[in-house]
Order: sequence, then C-alpha cells, then structure tokens
Amino acid sequence: MTADELKGLIRTVPDFPARGIQFRDITTLIGNGPGLRAAVGQLACIAREAGAEAIAGMEARGFIFGAAVAVELQLGFVPVRKPGKLPVETIGIEYALEYGSDRLEIDPASVGQGQRIVVVDDLIATGGTACAAAQLLRKAGAVVEDAAFVIDLPDLGGAAALRECGAAVHALVD
Ligand code: PRP
Ligand code: ADE
Repeated sequence: MTADELKGLIRTVPDFPARGIQFRDITTLIGNGPGLRAAVGQLACIAREAGAEAIAGMEARGFIFGAAVAVELQLGFVPVRKPGKLPVETIGIEYALEYGSDRLEIDPASVGQGQRIVVVDDLIATGGTACAAAQLLRKAGAVVEDAAFVIDLPDLGGAAALRECGAAVHALVD
C-alpha cells in the first residue's frame, strides 16, 4: 500500500482535544484490515532493518502498532505506560505534549542490558513522548537509536527533536 493510500485512511478531526489542534485519528486506519496490515508490515520492515531486539510502544496508541510489530518480528514487547498502571517498582519521566504534559513509566526489569530497542508509536508531533520513552528505556539499560511512526507531523519539529535526543525517525506518512 502506498503512503498516499495509507494517508487516505487517516481521519483528521479539527479542534480535538483543544481548539486549534488538527487531530490525526488512526481509528479509521486500524478499522481497515488491509490498511492495518500494511502499516504494521511497513513498520516491521523498518524495525527489522534497524536491528531491533525488542519493540517498545507507548500507551495507548503505541500499544496497537508496537505489539503487532513485535509479533510480526517474533520479538518481545516493552510497554511504556502512563502513571500508576504497573504493579511493580517503576522508573518514570515527565514530558510535555502538544496539548499538555504527562508522565511515562516502565518496569526496568522489562529491558535487557544493552538490548537494542526500537520505539514504535502511531504519531510523532513535538517528539516529547518518544524522546521521554527513549530516555527512560536507556536509563534501564537499552540502546535506542531508531523510532518508527505511522504519522509524522513535520510542522511540529518532532523528527529534529528526536534526532537531538539521539534517535532516528522513520515515518510512513507526513
Ligand atoms: C499521542 C500519540 C503520541 C504522542 C505524540 O499520544 O499517540 O504518543 O501523542 O505527541 P508528541 O510527539 O508531541 O509527544 P497521547 O499522549 O495523546 O496518548 P494516547 O495514545 O493515550 O491517545
Ligand atoms: N498527538 C499529539 N498531537 C497529535 C495530533 N495532532 N493528532 C493526533 N495525535 C496527536
């Protein structure tokens, strides 16, 4: 499936969750079997070429694509969670969003020392979430040099921000 065909399956909702935000909604993409299959397959190719030994995905939308990519590559999946969800002692990091701020947490034992982890999410906007996830995974001992997204919003500068954060950005559509 071409990038334009994938793009055609993504819905834009104006003024969500706040006035002025053009929300790029993947609900329509994942509701389309061939579209979901194509997006997961293309993300998996990127992760394989990046030498992934495990896949990490951010709650919640990153779980959809990240877990599917991990299954495709027969790799483990590291859930990067919103606060208070993991039942063990976690390590966490605060980060800024296009529309607010939040915190991510992981179980440090879910990461192998020196393990090469590719971060997968639906979308990169400012890059704040992905950079926070990369920093957290590195703190637990991972090597994080690549991140793969369905959508990049280039006007928000996330790809440059994530490069500054030490990871290359790969996206299926802009
Ligand atoms: C969205 C999206 C990315 C993040 C991108 O998640 O799924 O994780 O924002 O924004 P950034 O590049 O500016 O950090 P959100 O926090 O809205 O959570 P959700 O997956 O639970 O909807
Ligand atoms: N996450 C951050 N910015 C977003 C946007 N514009 N659309 C969908 N998800 C987002």
